[in-house]
Amino acid sequence: MVYTLGVICHGTHDAAAVLLEDGQVVASAEEERFSRKKFDNRFPAQAIEFCLAKAGITSQELSAIGYGFDPRRKVGLKALYVLKHFPQSVEMVVNGVPIARRMNGIEQDFREHLGYTGSVYRLNHHLCHAASTFLASPFEEAAVLALDCMGDWESCWWGLGKGHHISELEVTDWPQSLGLVYMTFTDYLGFQPLSDEYKVMGLASYGEPRYIEQMQEIFWATPQSYQLNLDYFNLKLQPTPPLYSQKLVERFGRALSKFDHSIPQYYRDIAASLQAQLEQVIFHLVKKVVATTGSRNLCLAGGVAMNSAANGKIPTRGLVDALYVPPCAADPGVALGAAYLAYQATTGKPQRQVLDTALLGPEYNDEQILVAIQHRGLQAHPLSNPSQQAAKLLTESKVVGWFQGRMEFGQRALGARSILADPRLAEMKDIVNKKIKFREGFRPFAPSVLEESVAEYFHYDAPVPFMTQVYPVREEKQAKIPAVTHVDGTARVQTVSISANPRYWHLIDAFYKLTGVPVVLNTSFNVKGQPIVNTPAEALDTFLNTEMDALVCGGYLVVKD
Ligand SMILES: [Fe+2]
Repeated sequence: MVYTLGVICHGTHDAAAVLLEDGQVVASAEEERFSRKKFDNRFPAQAIEFCLAKAGITSQELSAIGYGFDPRRKVGLKALYVLKHFPQSVEMVVNGVPIARRMNGIEQDFREHLGYTGSVYRLNHHLCHAASTFLASPFEEAAVLALDCMGDWESCWWGLGKGHHISELEVTDWPQSLGLVYMTFTDYLGFQPLSDEYKVMGLASYGEPRYIEQMQEIFWATPQSYQLNLDYFNLKLQPTPPLYSQKLVERFGRALSKFDHSIPQYYRDIAASLQAQLEQVIFHLVKKVVATTGSRNLCLAGGVAMNSAANGKIPTRGLVDALYVPPCAADPGVALGAAYLAYQATTGKPQRQVLDTALLGPEYNDEQILVAIQHRGLQAHPLSNPSQQAAKLLTESKVVGWFQGRMEFGQRALGARSILADPRLAEMKDIVNKKIKFREGFRPFAPSVLEESVAEYFHYDAPVPFMTQVYPVREEKQAKIPAVTHVDGTARVQTVSISANPRYWHLIDAFYKLTGVPVVLNTSFNVKGQPIVNTPAEALDTFLNTEMDALVCGGYLVVKD
């Protein structure tokens, strides 16, 4: 057996580890799920410990480790940038040097935390993004596009994947960065940059793109790729506000802050304009990469590929024939790509897999679950058929915690650490928001649908197992599932197959048999500001600290008095 580990930490906002056994994923997780610090970017000691334990090996049995940055790349460009932008660049240097030092000293982390002194490959960040999507995709050949804020001083990467190889065709360097644009407007609109970008995407549906011309002055497509007018940005390497410049304030007016509790229509229109212009630029890039590579299969990755609204329009507008977005499109996916590339580098053997599941994290058996329930003095009701029982509770308007099997890798809850509700009740959106999630009312909830029924409910007819794309809900079905139909008539769909997650599939199927609707509302098992739960104890704490009605945890049901 050959074991390779992929790791990302330090120069990211989401540390993670992935372990491969003979080139296939055995285990993966983000560090935040263990440390309980959201967007933890520190060395992922606990995630690595979990991965090694899952495979039953020690760090000494690792053949190689891949690290998802190579800070030695583009050193000249970085120095040139600092000189050119002196003295404004001083803050960037002050922020950047400690991060660079930690990235450069990564071998020391492996030595100190794992006692590991073997091979460590420092890998091109965007090549890792590319590997995380292409080598995990079902395509023999595909155009590959990776878009993020910045990694190894690059922001946009595209190339061709063929067989086991990925070749780079074009790269755009920071600060020409679409991630930077979205992050800056996230800050401008009063949200947390590098965290709340998905909220801006949700908000965009409540506005009209009235300011598209103004957006086109800020960033626009070019024959080569795209360009930003940097005068609108307050460039830093750390997401410390304000990321926008005075010029952007002069253009759009006062920025919102987290103390602005309601968002005026004007700012919703700005969010809509940002989203519309981003989509135009992404579509332009997709057309370019498809034309250059000659492939109509597309693999996407990078933080910008978390923009599920833009992703969904790529196939429906006929820009490509098929699209693959991995469950870990943002930086945790770099750990996956790094593990694949480390395997190839150390064995010289090409390897790939079709990654059709995100259920790659820790799991807990019924014995452990029972101990956790009893530890809290709660009554554990054994269930003969948890799927059937949970579906029945949903039809009784109960909000149900669903904790089953291995935890998801990536930001989406996909039916292992989920909170579920009846999508047929319009008021369920507000109930879940106010009683459990404590989050902004404008944010949509997502549907999980039986894979067999996706085309019946949505304008799309292919598996979307990782909730990475938004599609229109069929007009005649919108009134049937109002709690998961966004204000613009769309939904961030997850298709569930019986092979990928049998217990979750059976739950939705049981709900279908009871109600005639093969869809449930699925939101992540956490409260605002916290990482998704990992252990039964965390699930129980969240259950007790919210107004959730019932918890189906493994083979047990827990209810409130
Ligand atoms: Fe990245």
